[in-house]
Amino acid sequence: MQIKYPEQLVEQVRQRMVGQHLTGFVPGMGPKHPRIVLLGEAPGRKEAETGVPFVGSSGKELMKMIELAGLTRDDVYITSVVRSRPFSIRHVKDKKTGEIIEKHPNRTPTKKEVLAYAQLFDWKIKTVNPQILVPLGNTSLQRLLGAQANVGKMHGQPVQTTIQEALPDDSGYQMGDHPYWVYPMYHPAAYLYAPRLEPTVREDWHQFGKWLQQI
Ligand code: URA
Repeated sequence: MQIKYPEQLVEQVRQRMVGQHLTGFVPGMGPKHPRIVLLGEAPGRKEAETGVPFVGSSGKELMKMIELAGLTRDDVYITSVVRSRPFSIRHVKDKKTGEIIEKHPNRTPTKKEVLAYAQLFDWKIKTVNPQILVPLGNTSLQRLLGAQANVGKMHGQPVQTTIQEALPDDSGYQMGDHPYWVYPMYHPAAYLYAPRLEPTVREDWHQFGKWLQQI
């Protein structure tokens, strides 16, 4: 199910997107009050086209991983720290025609873009009020815990902690006061690019399933 966003927050994001290389808007999706929220970085092309989070190649991998934890897509709420697709502009030569064509590949969102969506993100997390947050990769992990957090060091290790929220004037973040379990995981795209990571990621999700039964 989709939750209706406060119009004023959506308008604030819309205004900040003007002039940025971002496209589409993908709402979060899942149960109204889930125990678990999975947090991606930003939608890719397929997600921006369909308006559904994690339906592209990373999404297919993510679904395999959540199954390893004994979960299905319907058990979890899925969203991203940035809701629109960040893209770069590249000019490349078409191999057949020799013509120069413009391409718009996906890219990692900038810190400024993450901050532009921060109030909307905070509102969403408070509204769904999960027990457990699963940041997928560094962008979402650092959005929660700050720039020093590193998924390479923290993956698969749950921490009970408060998380960052946007300052009222949007100049940065401060620590909130509500504690969550944060269970950092690699982003599924990480092992699509670096297949040697796959056994580690699979093991993390397997252990996550076991841990869920204990807390
Ligand atoms: N990566 C993300 O972080 N989110 C998506 O929805 C798809 C890919």
